[in-house]
Amino acid sequence: MAGVTTTAHYLELSVFPTSPYYARVHVQRVLEEWRRGDLVETARLVVSELVSNAIKASTPAVPVAEAAAHAAPDHVWLDLYRTREAVVLRVWDACRTPPVLCVPEPDDEGGRGLYLVDLLASSWGYHRPRSGGKIVWCTLADLPPTD
Ligand SMILES: Nc1ncnc2c1ncn2[C@@H]1O[C@H](COP(=O)(O)OP(=O)(O)O)[C@@H](O)[C@H]1O
Ligand SMILES: [Mg+2]
Repeated sequence: MAGVTTTAHYLELSVFPTSPYYARVHVQRVLEEWRRGDLVETARLVVSELVSNAIKASTPAVPVAEAAAHAAPDHVWLDLYRTREAVVLRVWDACRTPPVLCVPEPDDEGGRGLYLVDLLASSWGYHRPRSGGKIVWCTLADLPPTD
């Protein structure tokens, strides 16, 4: 897969329109490895929205030649991990601007992505690491304790 770097549960993706597809495939593979097939559909939807947003936020609104001069970000990443209680999905992009939850009107064409994440995830949020960019995270399920 061109423009894709993967190690364990981490996946780096090029800023490219097909990247949400690879994100869906990755999340499905990891959840199946963890025998959490019950979460796959929800996770595919959620990761699609988060990675689409990350790609959009990383895509320069200026012409490509100018963007190159400003060293436009060329990748986003995602990973998954498990805590005792939940599966956590994180998506990083280079843009420091926070995500904004919108409540869409029936006729609105956009603005549904985070609304969907808010409905489907147990919780979600974002933070801006010192190293740059931001991470939008969500928890996919509250897992029963293992002991
Ligand atoms: N990763 C992100 N980086 C910066 N802004 C974001 C990000 N994700 C979401 N946003 C902001 O939150 C808004 C709502 O996102 P969303 O509900 O997915 O709707 P849409 O993508 O259709 O605009 C976006 O329009 C954008 O302004
Ligand atoms: Mg969106």
